[in-house]
Amino acid sequence: MVIEAYLEAKRKEVDAFLESILRGDNIVKGDCPGVLRDAMNYSIFAGGKRIRPILAIASYEAVGGQSTTILPVASALELIHTYSLIHDDLPAMDNDDLRRGRPTSHKVFGEAVAILAGDALLTEAFHLLVSEGLDRVSPDTRIRLIREIADASGACGMVGGQTVDILSEGKGPDKNILYYIHTKKTGALIKASVRVGAILAGASDDELYALTKYGEAMGLAFQIVDDILNVTGTKEEIGKSVGSDFSKGKKTYPGIYGLEESINKAGSLTDSAIDSIRILGESAESLREIARYIVRRRS
Ligand code: IPE
Ligand code: IPE
Ligand code: MG
Ligand code: MG
Repeated sequence: MVIEAYLEAKRKEVDAFLESILRGDNIVKGDCPGVLRDAMNYSIFAGGKRIRPILAIASYEAVGGQSTTILPVASALELIHTYSLIHDDLPAMDNDDLRRGRPTSHKVFGEAVAILAGDALLTEAFHLLVSEGLDRVSPDTRIRLIREIADASGACGMVGGQTVDILSEGKGPDKNILYYIHTKKTGALIKASVRVGAILAGASDDELYALTKYGEAMGLAFQIVDDILNVTGTKEEIGKSVGSDFSKGKKTYPGIYGLEESINKAGSLTDSAIDSIRILGESAESLREIARYIVRRRS
């Protein structure tokens, strides 16, 4: 399997769906303020990797899912992720000027509209999860999907991780806090992405357990690689500022374990992620390749 071709094909499907909901008249109605719509589109269509929606699709396919019903769910994950990036970059948070190779939302639209664009993306994500595109999914499954995504992105998930990340700046090394931050701020939504794909496709308990282990390992690995790229990447590669974690006193894997051990940790998490989905056989090949892509990525 050529994973780059797979990623490109799925990214296009997700982008086409996002175009249809955000640029069309579907969920963001004509009476939505133009500047808010512009700010939402600016960040969504800035060229993200779409790894969370792609993980949801690959997981859905791995347990036999075959319809386009996955697209609204996958896209909701991307709306939430993009909202988190806009807020993450704000002056009161990481205070970054560059994101996805462009000036950050608040640099272009001002802080108030950037905050509101994030609020709107989060809200529209939940709108999408109750939209007509999912009408054929049973109410029980829909509620399960909404609960998964709300838990992963809420106070004891991503927002909790972001809170501890910010409050721990400059406070000295602590491996337990580092693990908490990374598994929550990034790991929770990545794990949920894998799980919602599986739930929508009607995974058995064993399949869901295997995919949950995969999602947990790759969620942490993803953020370790993000930390590594903040040290070893270039501005052109990552489309964001380099060296910023160190200058802000962020808790990171390279900061606490060193670069080499961090690279090894990301590698062994990937091996264990791949190992945990062996019961899925051939149908999970794309998930295995995505895991390998996540650790070797340069952007
Ligand atoms: C960056 O996420 C922020 C993290 C949670 C690590 P991505 O690396 O997925 O960013 P995009 O979506 O491709 O811009
Ligand atoms: C991002 O963490 C986590 C979320 C946005 C939820 P970082 O602050 O480490 O990510 P980047 O490096 O700015 O993308
Ligand atoms: Mg941050
Ligand atoms: Mg940041």
